[in-house]
Amino acid sequence: MLLRIDRRQARIGMFVDHVEGAWIDVPIWFRSHRIDDDAAVARIRDSRISAVVIDLDKGVGPTQGPVAPLAPPKVAAAASTAPDPEVVKAKETLRRTHSAMRQIFAAIRDGASIDPGQARAVVEEVAVAMRHRPRALLGITRLKSKDEYSFLHSVAVCALMTHFGRFLHLDEDMVQQLGLAGLLHDIGKVTLPSEILGKPGSLSEEEIEIVRTHPQEGFRILQSQDVSDMVRDVCLHHHERIDGRGYPDGLQGDQLSQAVRIAAICDVYDAVTSVRPYKEAWSAKTAYRRMWEWDGHFDRVLLGQFFVSIGVTGETARRPDP
Ligand SMILES: [Fe+2]
Repeated sequence: MLLRIDRRQARIGMFVDHVEGAWIDVPIWFRSHRIDDDAAVARIRDSRISAVVIDLDKGVGPTQGPVAPLAPPKVAAAASTAPDPEVVKAKETLRRTHSAMRQIFAAIRDGASIDPGQARAVVEEVAVAMRHRPRALLGITRLKSKDEYSFLHSVAVCALMTHFGRFLHLDEDMVQQLGLAGLLHDIGKVTLPSEILGKPGSLSEEEIEIVRTHPQEGFRILQSQDVSDMVRDVCLHHHERIDGRGYPDGLQGDQLSQAVRIAAICDVYDAVTSVRPYKEAWSAKTAYRRMWEWDGHFDRVLLGQFFVSIGVTGETARRPDP
């Protein structure tokens, strides 16, 4: 018999048949299993899943009364889970993508031309991985170290933009352009001083002003590159807001292109759900709830559709007809 329980009721001896929650919040290590030790209990309790469904014929049920305290998790215990083949493939994608992205960024720093074929191949690789193993890919890019933040953020925004573009039934050329725009949207940050870019704490007002130059710097860089106007538009305007209070141009309403509106959502979503050492990472559901409250920031129709596209139920949105 199957029984749905709160994840905080998980205990040793239970057999987990499956878990519930937005697919994007289900841990990448998950498969049906028996809970054998405290580390396995901790993994479930610390996850963002909304409920656990246990099989009472294969394991114990929940206890009555208060939830038992957990022993401190053992770091080594996570390694006892056999590697998930989807995670292995997603990591392989990122390894290949990383070296290509290094070359693209180096070319831009040196004032050389991006190889359009190489850039296209990166977008293609990320888009294919996002089509076949989105949970594994986004699960890995969510964990961002300081050194790899720029690379993983670019890949994650590229993945989310291609995924959302397909969800909106946009044609493949447009999806490819959205992916390239996602990869290059923050390229202007290569001009920022590394002390500011790598600063872990909050920035001074002067430093914030310097960071806010990155859209124009990126646009300037891309003017001499063989990319479409749409890619340049996203680079220049991904920090604009629908109410005109964004930067650098204070565009509003219809002045923001569809690509810019999509980029603004994917950029912020990846930033707020990223796991960083110094800040809380929001779950997909929390991101939905809070981003929805930011009145005037995003295109509301697209915002609702975006969260439907990643499996977070939206009360106000549905997928458009093809
Ligand atoms: Fe940016």
